[in-house]
Amino acid sequence: MNRAAVLDGIGSCLPPRVVSNGELAATLDTTDEWIVSRTGIRQRHVAAPGTATSDLAVGAGEQALKSSGEPVVDTVVVATTTPDRSCPATAPAVASKLGLTGAAAYDISAVCSGFIYGLATACGLIATGTADRVLVIGAETYSSILNPRDRATSVIFGDGAAAVTLRPGGPDEPGAVGPFDLGSDGNGRDLITVRAGGSEQRLSGVEPAPDDQFFAMAGKEVFWRAVLRMSESAQSVLGRAGLAVDEVDWLVGHQANARILQRLANALGIPPERHIVNIAEVGNTAAASIPLALADAHAAGTLHAGDRVLLTAFGGGLTWGSAVLTWPELDPTTRRSP
Ligand code: COA
Repeated sequence: MNRAAVLDGIGSCLPPRVVSNGELAATLDTTDEWIVSRTGIRQRHVAAPGTATSDLAVGAGEQALKSSGEPVVDTVVVATTTPDRSCPATAPAVASKLGLTGAAAYDISAVCSGFIYGLATACGLIATGTADRVLVIGAETYSSILNPRDRATSVIFGDGAAAVTLRPGGPDEPGAVGPFDLGSDGNGRDLITVRAGGSEQRLSGVEPAPDDQFFAMAGKEVFWRAVLRMSESAQSVLGRAGLAVDEVDWLVGHQANARILQRLANALGIPPERHIVNIAEVGNTAAASIPLALADAHAAGTLHAGDRVLLTAFGGGLTWGSAVLTWPELDPTTRRSP
């Protein structure tokens, strides 16, 4: 029998401070009405200065390990666009803070597709026997790279982290993850970018141009590409899995914009009642977006063991990816009380 990766734990961590659209409108030329109608976002969580991505990753990782009932993993993967430092990777620090010094630990940089890319590499490690138990975390502090004067990006992104644990198992048991579909198009790398700070625009001791040190996005250009790539990738992974659209119980798309998600669901022919959406409460949390939507849906009791879940994401790079998984029986104490 093929060795597959099986999801057996989940957790999340949001910084406590909630920033409403109204609070943003006090300093930016925007309104609650514009933000809600154009993006579906009502609020986002924002990390306090001094809170690093690893802090949120550790909070989510602790919860996921606890929910799996097994405190040890041999590999930690952190998907993030906002690492603690440009060198070294964030994952080794996360592993050590979780008491997992010695574990293999590395970052995945695929922006909003990062969690699916991370999940794919983790499943590969388990399938080949290189790893037994893997913690995959999506974690972001986008507030550290947003331009506070840019209304087009400041209203969209939020901070947060969420994580899952994986163990070896059979491909047909609840929790089995896969197959995957992954892709990229580097011709679009300028559409979602932070220009300064890498080898292209090197640190010289002199401040880079202000706009270059911050995250920048060509929103309109990104919008239609996100819909197209996610729907193509989702259809391709369903083909690989041999599944028809009506065999999918839940669509979990990257929470980029409620209008993107609506168009994605329409393109796939998935009705709104089978669509998991939490963007109103957390905004776009990039690599944390998909696991956070899963963790919220699990906590709310929406996902049930045996449900077939279709994940699809699109992000900077450009990158995209999709995966299919069967929802497992998870520790019921991680659900919210009704
Ligand atoms: N408040 C008020 N007005 C705003 C605004 C804000 N926060 N942000 C932009 N605008 C203005 C623009 O300046 C523009 O004004 P103009 O017509 O006078 O030039 C107008 O609103 C329309 O801007 P546009 O960019 O066409 O809006 P849009 O409907 O495309 O929505 C985004 C903008 C960013 C919300 C949308 O393009 C989007 O969500 N894109 C994808 C983002 C995404 O998913 N990114 C993550 C990648 S995975």
